[in-house]
Amino acid sequence: GQLNDLAVRAGLKYFGTALREGAINSDASYAAILGNKSEFGQLVPENGQKWDATEPRQGQFSYTQGDITTSTAKKNGQGVRCHTQIWYSQLPSWVSSGSWTKDTLKAVMATHMNNVMGHYKGQCYAWDVVNEAVADDGTWRPNVFLSTFSTDYLPLSFNLAKAADPDVKLYYNDYNLEYNGAKTDRAVELVKIVQAAGAPIDGVGFQGHLIVGSTPSRSNLATALRRFTALGLEVAYTELDIRHSSLPASSAALVTQGNDFANVVGSCLDVAGCIGVTVWGFTDKYSWIPETFSGQGDALIYDKNFGKKPAWTSVSSVLAAK
Ligand code: G3I
Repeated sequence: GQLNDLAVRAGLKYFGTALREGAINSDASYAAILGNKSEFGQLVPENGQKWDATEPRQGQFSYTQGDITTSTAKKNGQGVRCHTQIWYSQLPSWVSSGSWTKDTLKAVMATHMNNVMGHYKGQCYAWDVVNEAVADDGTWRPNVFLSTFSTDYLPLSFNLAKAADPDVKLYYNDYNLEYNGAKTDRAVELVKIVQAAGAPIDGVGFQGHLIVGSTPSRSNLATALRRFTALGLEVAYTELDIRHSSLPASSAALVTQGNDFANVVGSCLDVAGCIGVTVWGFTDKYSWIPETFSGQGDALIYDKNFGKKPAWTSVSSVLAAK
């Protein structure tokens, strides 16, 4: 079977992948696998809906990059996750370096969300409303929103998102929540802050940028997921990749990578309220990792020549076993 078909049979809503905007029109092999809805039932734009792509100058909106994903999904009968609204990165300097009052920044946020979420209304299953608001040590990550509003920007963002699109699922999305440490504790607090303010939040995305051999066990991963389902939310793995910390990977390391992928996907199957898994790209030909972590990578389920890796087989087996 193919991964999305197996995932749906196992009770998930989808198995999906990020779409790299620069590859889809130039690489027919890439487009063919990505566009097969039996393999990937849902797509996420890797960069095309971020603030720097959609509103590079104040009040000038562009949907060229973001529409690549929604039009590809529509053509192939796939769903879409939408990514992302309030984030410190890929935020144009007119926002991050502006001198704002609460009122003027709130207006900027509302205008951005009303336009971008309005443009994609009806096409997204979920939006990542707030992305990466917590630093790895569990402190609040500094950004223009935190410095202007303190943590009031969290419920504010979710309220503005609800007003922009009342029907889409609203998510908080972050990485390293999988280790269930100080960062996870703070993300739990974030959800409680939003809920206590009476603002809407539907889900938490576990990005899942993990490392071969250091990925938590299936049961520890499930424990971390359940901290959020206990608050009445759904959860999902939203950007899964598991990188080798040195390359080339040995055949033993490829097997370990497969086991790690199976533990992550298996943990989602084990938790009522974990609704899907999205990989952050599917082929080692296209990944953000080598640019950020020099010498590391090969973190995905197909190799650079679009051959299925042991990780693909492990994922398909764990889905088929449910
Ligand atoms: O847009 C410019 C383009 O104009 C220029 O010609 C080109 C030359 O380098 O760079 C382009 O910008 C790049 C951008 O991706 C779009 O391709 C940036 O340099 C590059 O740094 C950027 O990287 C993205 C990264 O987010 C930025 O934070 C990665 O592709 C993307 O995979 C990564 O995704 C994030 C998620 O959104 C959030 N969670 C973590 C994840 C991994 O970092």
